[in-house]
Amino acid sequence: MSYRDSKVVVVGAGKVGSTTAFSIVNQGLCEDVRLIDVDRERAVGEALDMGDSVFFMSRNMSVHAGGYDECADADIVIVTAAAPMPKDSNDRLEMLRPSLGVVRSVVEQVMASGFDGIFLVVSNPVDVMAYYTWKVSGLPRERVIGSGTLLDTARLCRALSDMYDLAPASVEAYVLGEHGDSEIVSWNSATIGGKRVDDVLRDNASRTRGVTRDELRKRTVQAGWDIFSRKGNTCYGIASSTASIAKSILFDENRIMPVSVYLDGQYGIRDTFLSVPTIVDHTGAKEIVEIDLLPDELEALRSSADLLHALDERLQ
Ligand code: LAC
Repeated sequence: MSYRDSKVVVVGAGKVGSTTAFSIVNQGLCEDVRLIDVDRERAVGEALDMGDSVFFMSRNMSVHAGGYDECADADIVIVTAAAPMPKDSNDRLEMLRPSLGVVRSVVEQVMASGFDGIFLVVSNPVDVMAYYTWKVSGLPRERVIGSGTLLDTARLCRALSDMYDLAPASVEAYVLGEHGDSEIVSWNSATIGGKRVDDVLRDNASRTRGVTRDELRKRTVQAGWDIFSRKGNTCYGIASSTASIAKSILFDENRIMPVSVYLDGQYGIRDTFLSVPTIVDHTGAKEIVEIDLLPDELEALRSSADLLHALDERLQ
């Protein structure tokens, strides 16, 4: 695979899928983008619309609707297809049952094409769906990645950087665990400009009006629902974070990002997918990074894992 001949297939041409595909096109991340949807005409319409933007991009790219046979030589298949979120829901786990059938059918059809690349799973509840994709596909664990808490991490870093009028990239703080209510923040490793966030909060209490770590975590968990309750979906943040994972794969960037991966003993957690810092390169989830968590953080991460593991077990 190279920057020149790379191919990404996005399954699901709804809001999340089409915005993700457009982020990839907009950043010129690969040569070939294919869209698949049960509503073929919708996929064709989105691809035609995106194709019109290529003239304005930094490189030429092919953007088309396709069928599952397109996955045979794809480097990445991004799974965004899912059952719709119940209208008044505020728990991604409510999508579990209805989405299972959708994801199984997608993964089986992708694998039937002879696909031998990397699955990037976005469908919610993403950690359980990543686990299910791994089980159904039979691929090695490093070739299935869930978008996980990279988005929550971006939300937290931006909330912190906004408080101090800084660039979000100057904040390094990881949200880990489930992409959902049980997620945790690794405050022990969180820094702003090399200074521990705990110390920054303490030294700047008047600027931040005494905001606490707990409030920051709660706001991060709530952020998706603040959007969902108003517009019925979220798409730009998740599309940007998914495109950045795809970029680390396609460009062999070896970036460390919190994404949902299969844990096999790391952090004392086994046989479940959840987000921890991971080195992402052209092989996928190349290596899991074990950072030092405080005892209560580790305990909370393990509780998050227990919750997900119980759901994973019910899938069998
Ligand atoms: C969100 C969706 C993608 O948090 O779960 O925006």
